[in-house]
Amino acid sequence: MKHNSEQWTSKIGFILAAAGSAIGLGAIWKLPYVAGTSGGGAFFLIFILFTLFLGLPLLLAEFTIGRYTKKEAISAYREIAPGTYWNWIGKLGVVTSFLLLSFYSVVGGWVVIYLFRSLTVNIQVMETNDFGQMFSDTISNPFLAITAQFIFLALTILVVQGGIQKGIERSSKIMMPILFVFFTLIVIRSLTLDNSIEGIRFFLLPDFSSLTGETTLFAIGQAFFSLSLGVSIMVTYSSYLKSEESLVKSATSIVSLTIFISLLAGLAIFPAVFSFGMEPSEGPPLVFIVLPAVFSSIPLGNVFFFLFMTLLLFATLTSAFSLLEMVVASITKNEGEKRRKTTVITGIFIFIMGIPSALSFGYLSDTLFFGNTFFDALDYLVSNIMLPMGALFISLFTPRYLSKSTLFAELRKGSRVKLYVLQIWYVLLKYVTPVAIIIAFLHVVGII
Ligand code: PFF
Repeated sequence: MKHNSEQWTSKIGFILAAAGSAIGLGAIWKLPYVAGTSGGGAFFLIFILFTLFLGLPLLLAEFTIGRYTKKEAISAYREIAPGTYWNWIGKLGVVTSFLLLSFYSVVGGWVVIYLFRSLTVNIQVMETNDFGQMFSDTISNPFLAITAQFIFLALTILVVQGGIQKGIERSSKIMMPILFVFFTLIVIRSLTLDNSIEGIRFFLLPDFSSLTGETTLFAIGQAFFSLSLGVSIMVTYSSYLKSEESLVKSATSIVSLTIFISLLAGLAIFPAVFSFGMEPSEGPPLVFIVLPAVFSSIPLGNVFFFLFMTLLLFATLTSAFSLLEMVVASITKNEGEKRRKTTVITGIFIFIMGIPSALSFGYLSDTLFFGNTFFDALDYLVSNIMLPMGALFISLFTPRYLSKSTLFAELRKGSRVKLYVLQIWYVLLKYVTPVAIIIAFLHVVGII
């Protein structure tokens, strides 16, 4: 049996890379604005519950499949269920990663532009309205948007080309700690603003009257998106993990880190928003308009603006690495000599695919698909259909093709996890997760 030649050098390297995949625009950009428009604290609370009771079991399932087979996603499903169509979960994951990175890199490009601006523009002399103008000028300028997307993808290609140890692990080990430190600085600044308590209350005190079926669905989707689940990226990442490392410990660390960063994101943003009398329901531009506007009126504003954009870039890049790695690993089947060329060629195709998304806020803003711009339509297709579908298939596949004893044995390697914990996990994975996803789907299509 041919196994991966690639391997993480350490458990911490693996945890930081997988947490890097998880922590990204989902936690720092999407969660605050969705929470801001969907009821604040109540949304955050159910997001945490879904992360723990649906996300964590699924993450463990993906880890088990990857480490058990030590193969990239498509081959992993093929090895466990030979002669069946189940390897299409892996193929779906590759297509999903490809499409997701094509529009994720557009927002990554905006972050590159804003990081550059934090060094060149004196935000302290700008008025609140100027920030709205700056954002729309940024996203609607075709040349700027496409160039920035290109730079973002070039950085991603550069790292993924280096392979698992020298590329992804090494850069995650540098970027993730910096992200945590910078985030802590921003949160301290935000919490020490006047009236920050209003924001904390909005974000942490649940008001369940604001929850609807729709927002509950958003919270499930957000939980999967935030943990990079349903794409089999975590299958691929765990296939590079040594057998003696504990999957349970790694998964709990990754989930805790993701929840922690989501909490920090809310604590950085909402106190600042309330302190300056702005609207939490501002939507997607929350971190690109409201936050810079807030930074502009505090001492050392430009420095905090720079720190925030740096951490956002690092978070976005480490997620992009995993998306590109997923595609590259499945094409090269981890034959080292093919990696460099394949990474560049795949990256170029993703860039080309991303161009209509980059133009969706300017040139193509009137070209609609099902009433949405290309960017929004693709985001909807990937985040609300392909990702949950992948998650559903994985939750159905795992208990069907891997016996309880095989699963438990894999999860017990390097870990003294109690049997009853594994039993609970099994029930959550086999019954609760698929039922929750199916209910969510039926709700979306209006059947319930
Ligand atoms: N988890 C990433 C984020 O929250 O930004 C996004 C993501 C990456 C989703 C990889 C899915 C994925 F497979």
